[in-house]
Amino acid sequence: MDIKVFGHEYFYDITSMSMLFFPGEKVCYVRRSSKPTHIISGLYFSRGSIISRTRIKYNGRWFSSQKNAKSGCDLKNLVKQTFYRACSIATGITPPWGILTGIRPLSVYRRHRIAGDEPHAVMKDEYFLAEDKIELLDKIFACQAAFHCPKPRDVSVYISIPFCPGKCSYCSFISISAVNARDLLDRYLNGLFDEIKAKALLINKYNLRVKSLYIGGGTPGILDERQLLMLMQLLHDSFDFGKTEEICFELGRPETVSDEKLKILKNFNVHRICINTQTTNDKILNIIGRNHNSQDYFLAVKKALKCGFNSINTDLIAGLPGEDYSSFCRSVDDVINSGVDNITVHTLAIKRAAKLSGCGDNFNPENRVVTDMLDYAYSRLMSDGYVPYYIYRQKNCVSNGENTGFCKPYKICGYNIYMMEDIHSIIACGAGASSKIIKDRKVNRVINVKYPMEYVSEYEKIIKNTDIIDKMLRAELTDE
Ligand SMILES: C[S@@+](CC[C@H](N)C(=O)[O-])C[C@H]1O[C@@H](n2cnc3c(N)ncnc32)[C@H](O)[C@@H]1O
Ligand code: SF4
Repeated sequence: MDIKVFGHEYFYDITSMSMLFFPGEKVCYVRRSSKPTHIISGLYFSRGSIISRTRIKYNGRWFSSQKNAKSGCDLKNLVKQTFYRACSIATGITPPWGILTGIRPLSVYRRHRIAGDEPHAVMKDEYFLAEDKIELLDKIFACQAAFHCPKPRDVSVYISIPFCPGKCSYCSFISISAVNARDLLDRYLNGLFDEIKAKALLINKYNLRVKSLYIGGGTPGILDERQLLMLMQLLHDSFDFGKTEEICFELGRPETVSDEKLKILKNFNVHRICINTQTTNDKILNIIGRNHNSQDYFLAVKKALKCGFNSINTDLIAGLPGEDYSSFCRSVDDVINSGVDNITVHTLAIKRAAKLSGCGDNFNPENRVVTDMLDYAYSRLMSDGYVPYYIYRQKNCVSNGENTGFCKPYKICGYNIYMMEDIHSIIACGAGASSKIIKDRKVNRVINVKYPMEYVSEYEKIIKNTDIIDKMLRAELTDE
């Protein structure tokens, strides 16, 4: 499929959007060509006014959309609007997130609300969002209100454990299968402990308040009892958690959960844990390469509840290969019935770096199965008293879906909001971890090396990153 572009530079943006209407089509950029072109997107400037026009050839017919605007308008949105309209008229498809690609929907919604715009009208008329997505944003916005008042010295700390018991076919997160890498895991922890101490010195030097701590992965539950005890002890010796509102530990796969590990976490005041299953259909768990079954999941949650954890999250994925509507609905019901009070509903994203490279008809925007799965999950969760509190979107999600975190009232995971909405700085430790220093709502990132192997052998880079963060914090706090 050829796209010819005139008068603007938004080729990348319209290409991403074209995937929503023509998934799997290869798109080529045509500058000047006599070849037949399938899509022509142009911006024309004429005496103080701007015209965006898109023409598209589909099934042998041409369709077009045009919009005039005044100078000073958002040109990118203008181009995307006529592109969306023309594709939509031609194909009959109306992607529910409208022209929002590569941008956090809640940030756009919040920006307009803060500016005093009427969010419904703007999200519908300017961004072409479907009514149910606008309502979802309304609810999430309301839930997050109390979390959007950052204090100058608040930070959150993230600890990365990029090791797993094995690789799931859909996942592209950097994580090493720990089965044959026990030695690497020990060396990794040695390096990580040094980095934690260095970052804690910084936090103490600037008198920062650790508002939340998140230990994530990978599968941090992969640590054995000795390693877990060492990590938790070190964290408690290094940071002052006196004013910390939450500590989350993502155990991850249920087969890693033991009574002993749960007790250690409880003794170190961990408030929230994650035990994930993705689906409770054993056949599908096997297909996606998770070496546990649904009973392992139910048992792990039971143990955690018995140990006194009253904030447990479970991740589910809609659109897994082989999972049909009724199987997904059963997974939602099973997870609700297990007694967890946080449930994060993901939509399968097809990742180049994952083993799973396609998902058949689920990628077809005209196939409503995954949309119906999300509809079921959302209405079942809401009727059971869960509220949506954070949202993010990824590229290449089947049916153009999203990931939404739900929880029972007062069980919100603040870290997910602080991190996703850039509310305060995040100091991150470990391979693949990304620290974010926020000054005047601008984000400066300092990214550690990606792979555990590099991490253990390139420790100087970590020290250098700590120095960079030191300078950024000094700059942030001097004109506080
Ligand atoms: C960083 S992973 C860690 C989870 C943990 N290791 C586990 O598997 O239980 C966090 C979550 O991202 C989601 N996830 C990973 N790959 C995904 C994909 N390709 N599409 C949608 N969700 C995905 C899964 O729900 C997963 O539980
Ligand atoms: S989903 Fe979790 S366990 Fe599976 S590979 Fe990804 S991070 Fe590891």
